[in-house]
Amino acid sequence: MKIQNIEEYHSIYKQSVENPEQFWAEVARQFEWISPFSETLKWDFEKPDVQWFINGKTNITLNCLDRHLANHADKTALIWESNDPKEKEIRFTYARLHEEVCRMANVLKNNGVKKGDRVCIYMPMIPELTISVLACARIGAVHSVVFAGFSAHALADRIQDAQANVVITSDGLNRGTKEVAVKRVVDEALDSGCDSIQKVIVANRLGWTVDMTHGRDVFLHDELLKVNADCPAEPMDSEDMLFILYTSGSTGKPKGVVHTIGGYMVYAGYTFDTVFQCGEKDIFWCTADVGWITGHSYLIYGPLLNGATTLMFEGIPTYPDAGRFWQVIDKYGVTHFYTAPTAIRALMASGVDHVLGYNLHSLKLLGTVGEPINEEAWKWYHLHIGKGRCPIVDTWWQTETGGIMISAIGHFSPQKPAHAGLPLPGIQPVLLNNDGKEIKENEQEGYLAIRFPWPSIIRTTYGDHERCRLTYFSTYNNYYFTGDGARRDADGLYRIIGRVDDVINVSGHRFGTAEVENAINQNKKVVESAVVGFPHYIKGQGIYAFVVCEKIPESPDFTREEILETVTQEIGRIAKPDKIQFVTALPKTRSGKIMRRILRKVAEGDTSNLGDTSTLLDPLVVDEIVQGAI
Ligand code: WTA
Repeated sequence: MKIQNIEEYHSIYKQSVENPEQFWAEVARQFEWISPFSETLKWDFEKPDVQWFINGKTNITLNCLDRHLANHADKTALIWESNDPKEKEIRFTYARLHEEVCRMANVLKNNGVKKGDRVCIYMPMIPELTISVLACARIGAVHSVVFAGFSAHALADRIQDAQANVVITSDGLNRGTKEVAVKRVVDEALDSGCDSIQKVIVANRLGWTVDMTHGRDVFLHDELLKVNADCPAEPMDSEDMLFILYTSGSTGKPKGVVHTIGGYMVYAGYTFDTVFQCGEKDIFWCTADVGWITGHSYLIYGPLLNGATTLMFEGIPTYPDAGRFWQVIDKYGVTHFYTAPTAIRALMASGVDHVLGYNLHSLKLLGTVGEPINEEAWKWYHLHIGKGRCPIVDTWWQTETGGIMISAIGHFSPQKPAHAGLPLPGIQPVLLNNDGKEIKENEQEGYLAIRFPWPSIIRTTYGDHERCRLTYFSTYNNYYFTGDGARRDADGLYRIIGRVDDVINVSGHRFGTAEVENAINQNKKVVESAVVGFPHYIKGQGIYAFVVCEKIPESPDFTREEILETVTQEIGRIAKPDKIQFVTALPKTRSGKIMRRILRKVAEGDTSNLGDTSTLLDPLVVDEIVQGAI
């Protein structure tokens, strides 16, 4: 939806709230349906049961690919830029991408994948990843992409939970100067017992020799020789599952967030168009990995649904040096650049010299996502990258929301550093107080919730609907609860403060404190642990672990390394604690509850006022913890 100015925004917003079903039906009709929906929405947040575009039949790839063939067959759909700046890029026109997706879809079919089956995709950022995602959608299989930085253990958990039949992977991966034997991680995961898996399809990235299990493992390049490019899109019901994506919550293991076809398609397409306002010749670059929701919605689906050109980058911002992002923008004439505050802060720390040699004139709009952006980073981004002329869209949303919810739009929204801004048309956020009542006034802080469904609201957590209800729909009656705290300024702009639950956001990646504690506790020397977040200059939040061992370690550095290794094995390197403090006991109440409030204060380095510690079983523990703080 191309909105031109703030008056128009307010008028459309008003209509969208007064008559949401009509609003969304009109948005949805701009997509191609095999048969139209008969009813726009049915919803009940108590159960929860939300259905959009009921009885509509479509296939998201018809809208991402086939639809553009008539007029845009030769337009570039996807540009792939290697980790190695010397390796030549690969460009896919819409016609070629369509062909490759159909061929991959036929490979999946030949390997026994049927409509409704779950396919796990554990791959680096190579074109085959995007093609595999779309190939699943083409035949109605449910993709479950697992970020290739997760460990074998974490991968196995996700495969088992989704009961996936097939894994698509690669021989290895290449990021910066690092090479990882990806296929070996898959083998390790499958060795630990993933009985549902029948086939492993291996793409060739590094040309490595890999162990292949006879009857189970096949090479993608061999399989592609056996198929043609003829694969009609499977007609799917609007509420059929499109994908599962695992994300961390405050309790237990990561949960499989489920999105369905009609609603997700409409919302990913609508938000991409509305927020970024890309023109015909623009080049859109989202730096997120496809293993996260941002990669799903704004590297693949959003741009392709709109016939845009999307850029996929295999590498990291600091290889071969801190100028890589700017070099890539210069090379392709990127117009829209969408990244995470943590990347901006990391690059900011290397000064501005690495920006100066590149021509960034092509840029029209900048975006951020995943965590709050601090004012300093916002200003640096605005001045040194946007040269003071590009607006910044600070987009707030979640894996569970499927697409951007609160954000500036294109060129006209008010620009206020660290503020996500106003809700998109169709989105009804509220702030709730401790009693669960809506705070009507501005300049107040509260719990951020949404009072009316939007098309890509989470449908369920895979295999455990009750968990979905408890996590998102039971805290406040008849609201979707986000887990975030927020503040509204005098003009109604939202500023996201951060999580109010036990989720920490490290470099824009979500971890549950319980999840990291469980990983640490797997180490044989550890008796128990407590994990909290603390402010970290580059990562936004860092992980601080308080660990009780059987006896205080004689060589703490060694034990620390062992614990880091355990976490790497259980979850992946991205979840390694930044600080580990060994303590003789954790501060617990008489009923055995860990007083995290105290630990958070210690981790933040603010021990001047620890509040009431009289309910602690052993208040002396606190002195020891404060003295040993890192
Ligand atoms: C946080 C990422 C502040 C928030 C799309 C949310 C943000 C969690 C922003 C979801 C933003 C995301 N400003 N905080 N612009 N965007 N967050 O599921 O705490 O990986 O609940 O989705 O990231 O993280 P997720």
